[in-house]
Amino acid sequence: MAWLPYINMAIFWLAVWLLLWNLYIVVFNRGVPNIRTAPAIRKKIIQLLKEDAKRHTAAPYKVIDIGSGNGQFTREIARALPHARVTGIEISRQSYWWSMCIKRLFRLHNLDYKRVDFFTYDVSDVDAVVMFFYRLHRVAQKLRRELKPGTLVTSNKFKLGDGWVPHDVIDVKTLYPFQKKLYVYYKPEA
Ligand SMILES: C[S@@+](CC[C@H](N)C(=O)[O-])C[C@H]1O[C@@H](n2cnc3c(N)ncnc32)[C@H](O)[C@@H]1O
Repeated sequence: MAWLPYINMAIFWLAVWLLLWNLYIVVFNRGVPNIRTAPAIRKKIIQLLKEDAKRHTAAPYKVIDIGSGNGQFTREIARALPHARVTGIEISRQSYWWSMCIKRLFRLHNLDYKRVDFFTYDVSDVDAVVMFFYRLHRVAQKLRRELKPGTLVTSNKFKLGDGWVPHDVIDVKTLYPFQKKLYVYYKPEA
């Protein structure tokens, strides 16, 4: 049983890592893990955004990411849709700060971030919303109240509450264990 101390040590460091990770989530992210949308799902959403953007030619197409985390997805959207205005809404100071630094480094002029609680942010002028978020009943109520009819809404993994009916539910093959479904909505007329 010479390997027993190594197993003990591995379990100990795994427990320490899990504790620190959970502390980080509770302290900096209000209990929401900062996990990225899987690459295959990001690709699918960008395709949907590109198609939807063709319907909006008068003014810049405005996209928001509710809870933009470290900004990877917003950067990809900004690059894929150079004529759109992309805004990441992020509550965590660290994630906001990091996103701003990278945005400046890559000079992404059509990308911006707001460090605010999404529930205080006015969404009445946006054309598309992407999210990988929680508290979806409250989010759904706010989107129903404020969004313009026809606004595209995509939700990775989680279904919107408050009576929203998906226009499409897309199964996406990803290597991420818990991300396989993408819900697509359009804000109804009434
Ligand atoms: C699961 S991550 C999603 C990251 C990114 N949108 C993506 O899809 O790759 C969710 C993010 O929401 C942020 N968040 C949690 N509550 C928030 C709130 N009330 N307002 C804005 N952001 C919030 C967290 O800090 C976290 O970075």
